[in-house]
Amino acid sequence: MWETKATRTGENSHGVAEHPPMIDMEGFDAEPLRELLAKYRGQAGTLIPLLQGTQEIYGFLPDPAMAIIAAELDQPLSALYGVATFYAQFRLVPRGKHVVRICHGTACHVSGAPLVSLEVGRHLGIEDGENTEDMLFTLENVACLGACGMAPVMMINDRTYGKLTADSAVKSIKEFRTSLAPEGDGNGSQPAAEPEEDE
Ligand code: FES
Repeated sequence: MWETKATRTGENSHGVAEHPPMIDMEGFDAEPLRELLAKYRGQAGTLIPLLQGTQEIYGFLPDPAMAIIAAELDQPLSALYGVATFYAQFRLVPRGKHVVRICHGTACHVSGAPLVSLEVGRHLGIEDGENTEDMLFTLENVACLGACGMAPVMMINDRTYGKLTADSAVKSIKEFRTSLAPEGDGNGSQPAAEPEEDE
């Protein structure tokens, strides 16, 4: 595993990122990132697409990747973290294997989303933005999921569950967990209960 601290201190006295050899790269597979960088090399305004592409590859923005991008763009590492923390779409920590999103848009909020969040969080033992210890679930409170007619709405990965109560949301998560393959990856599995689908 790479060292976060070593990476974040990988700046010179001008706040400019040192080159990747200064960074502890142990365990970090830079190859897909280098392919991504090659694709955008020579183009202007590539920071956001590079961060998006990096997150697609790794599921979040690992410190070594940030340092490599900073060196490639000749920008201070701190500037990259500034951008990454400004936009809600970017994550600096890994996600769990399954992402539970609870909508807190207006329709869902007034229909009981706060209680749904509270109970789901209690059930999983985590709060908004956190991962379960086993890295099986990440809980995220999000803006409108585009299914307001089914408020309050929750998604587990790409499946939508609507017209929830706190109890039914927790039940859906329990059923989803039960449906997972023995090794816990859930590949090819379906939730035991039929979820509400988008209209
Ligand atoms: S407000 Fe929740 S889906 Fe739109």
